[in-house]
Amino acid sequence: AKITLRQLLDHAAEQGYGVPAFNINNMEQGLAIMEAAAKSDAPVIMQASRGARSYAKDIMLEKMMDALVEMFPQIPVCIHQDHGNNEQTCLTAIRHGFTSVMMDGSLEADMKTPASYEYNVAITERVTRMAHWVGASVEGELGVLGSLETGEGEKEDGVGFEGKLDHDKLLTDPDQAVDFVRRTHVDALAIAMGTSHGAYKFSRKPDGEILAMHVIEEIHSKLPNTHLVMHGSSSVPEDLQEIINRYGGRMRETYGVPVEEIVRGIKHGVRKVNIDTDCRMAMTGQFRKVAMEKPEEFDPRKFLVPAMDALKKLCLDRYEQFGCAGQA
Ligand code: G3H
Ligand code: 13P
Ligand code: ZN
Repeated sequence: AKITLRQLLDHAAEQGYGVPAFNINNMEQGLAIMEAAAKSDAPVIMQASRGARSYAKDIMLEKMMDALVEMFPQIPVCIHQDHGNNEQTCLTAIRHGFTSVMMDGSLEADMKTPASYEYNVAITERVTRMAHWVGASVEGELGVLGSLETGEGEKEDGVGFEGKLDHDKLLTDPDQAVDFVRRTHVDALAIAMGTSHGAYKFSRKPDGEILAMHVIEEIHSKLPNTHLVMHGSSSVPEDLQEIINRYGGRMRETYGVPVEEIVRGIKHGVRKVNIDTDCRMAMTGQFRKVAMEKPEEFDPRKFLVPAMDALKKLCLDRYEQFGCAGQA
């Protein structure tokens, strides 16, 4: 059945687990995520970006989500708008069956200026008030994440975080987080703690210092009832890089967020863990493999089935690793 982010993350907090939030754009990703959840008996967060909504179209996404929920009646599913940029994006998502929205008021804010902070508080408070009227949950964001091109000129440009910009200035300030949650009433808070979106996060394996685990711990101790969200949480696994490159891809050396660091975060209040890049890599590795090994093949299903299997395996791993398996 469909549930809200608040319902799901309250349960996760009670039981001490984290939930991967996988991005979805199409049927194949939806089936893989849900089949993995059914196999692990895990609750699900499927999230659609603005890009996903314009790719698949709102009505298609809405009916597809309804179909997936109906096909797996035993699995609780939260359908979430990823990186909503304004009231219109968030309210149209709710209208199309989303049970939760992210109002990312940090998208407009190029730096932590007082004016951009007040803008973020005001728009997030407005969206939260409206969403709560109709029973949907809201995730806000405070701080600056690494490079996220939104397609319309806005971007969060902590870039890769390593030295390019003043690292500490971009991290979420714990006292400001307390003020933000008190004034906006968000259900969940995305924090900036050293990650960035996409495949090129770090040039070496990051430690707890680069990932600012102390910031997570401090925010959690000050806001024990606010569910924390980690964006940019793909691990960019070496084996997936290797498959892509073995079959003609060209990904340069890179490191993502180690699963063990995410698990540490989950011990300190992280409940929602956003993963898109790893899903893309799992599928694309198989597209490349089939294309290279079977050049005579032209049935798209022969590409999509192994791609779904690879995504399903990734989802199974994350449900297990985040303690989400068996919690549906
Ligand atoms: O946060 C970004 C997600 O990876 C979604 O990416 O906007 O290309 O769909 P997208
Ligand atoms: P990745 O690029 O690390 O998968 O992050 C996805 C994300 O944060 C979506 O909001
Ligand atoms: Zn994100």
